[in-house]
Amino acid sequence: MFEHLTTAPDDPILGLNEKFKQDQRPHRVNLIVGVYQDETGEIPEFQAVSEARRRINTNVKANYLGIDGDPAYSKLASELLLGAESPRFRTGNWVAAQSLGGTGGLRVVADFLARCQVTTTIWHTNPTWVNHQSIFNAAGLQTKAFPYLDAAGKGLDFVGMLAALEQIPSGDAVLLHGCCHNPTGVDPSPDQWQAIIDVLKQRRLLPILDCAYQGFGDGLEADVLACRLVSQQMDEAVIVQSFSKNFSLYNQRVGAVLFLTKDQLQANTLRSQVKAAIRANYSNPPQYGAALVRTVLADTELRANWQNELESMRLRIATLRRRFSASLQEKCDHDFSHIAKQSGMFSFSGLTPEQVTHLRDEFGIYFVGNGRMNVAGLNESNLEVTTRAIAEVVGRCAVSAS
Ligand code: LMR
Repeated sequence: MFEHLTTAPDDPILGLNEKFKQDQRPHRVNLIVGVYQDETGEIPEFQAVSEARRRINTNVKANYLGIDGDPAYSKLASELLLGAESPRFRTGNWVAAQSLGGTGGLRVVADFLARCQVTTTIWHTNPTWVNHQSIFNAAGLQTKAFPYLDAAGKGLDFVGMLAALEQIPSGDAVLLHGCCHNPTGVDPSPDQWQAIIDVLKQRRLLPILDCAYQGFGDGLEADVLACRLVSQQMDEAVIVQSFSKNFSLYNQRVGAVLFLTKDQLQANTLRSQVKAAIRANYSNPPQYGAALVRTVLADTELRANWQNELESMRLRIATLRRRFSASLQEKCDHDFSHIAKQSGMFSFSGLTPEQVTHLRDEFGIYFVGNGRMNVAGLNESNLEVTTRAIAEVVGRCAVSAS
């Protein structure tokens, strides 16, 4: 039965990370996966999460959660996106469900859209996170791309993007990154977001906002501007949330999906379908990670502490961006100023696949093949070696190309 199988390609992000773990070179640098690392290269635990662990340890129950998870958690998660004052929470035209991280949330959305025949096609930015297409394709939906980056690969091709959105057939879904675009770090401005949403409204397109990096761009509130505009101006939309990064709970798989509906009746029907989609997939979610998030978000003191720590991470990444960009500018003729302007954990360096391979093979510095780097993997001890290696690789490629 298994004779015909051929080997699947390694995942461009997590598969490469496995290769990194096997690399024995002491000076190797991991800029692959989107995880926040501190100055020592460790993934820190938030103080508020440590305290939440102490508080809930005696309180963990063994029984199954409901199919859609812990409702108190999901409400707090949704409030973090829309603001606790959002009229949606008074009128009831929303449905939220706990999910297995952002990836699991996207798959719940994909399964729901496919089984209920809401739409057949998901449009995504070019480029987008390497797993987006696979998730929607796995549910039987087709994916198509629209332009996002300009020709230089450094900024938003806003005109091209808007023109493409205007051509999308009504009833299709458009997958956007709520903030901190992965892999480019290039986000629309507030005015550009409004123009995008105007097109979505006019064309009757369903927005799916992937919001995996809230707090790492311009701040916890600023990063959900697009979510809030959509909630205020559109009847129907989907938002997917992850707490992997902003709670540093990568292996707990904590996320949520939020569906915005026309009214409460529609919300009730939709909830039944979302639960059916989840039940056919993993039945119901685990308790512990969501309990940690709920404990922090529900407690004023822990929440403030978490926000402060998250803000200091955000500021540290912004400083690393500036230092990295300046250090590159000193060493090469290439223009790397865009790196300082990008937002969130990732930078689209502009390095070619060939240059990325050189960096990895000769210097032990790991970028994703498309040139994406995790800025949060830089620190005092690896920043200089990384920029020196890039300067050498870029210089060498420029010479060999000429
Ligand atoms: C990333 O883009 O590096 C993260 O979202 C981790 C992943 O699952 O790919």
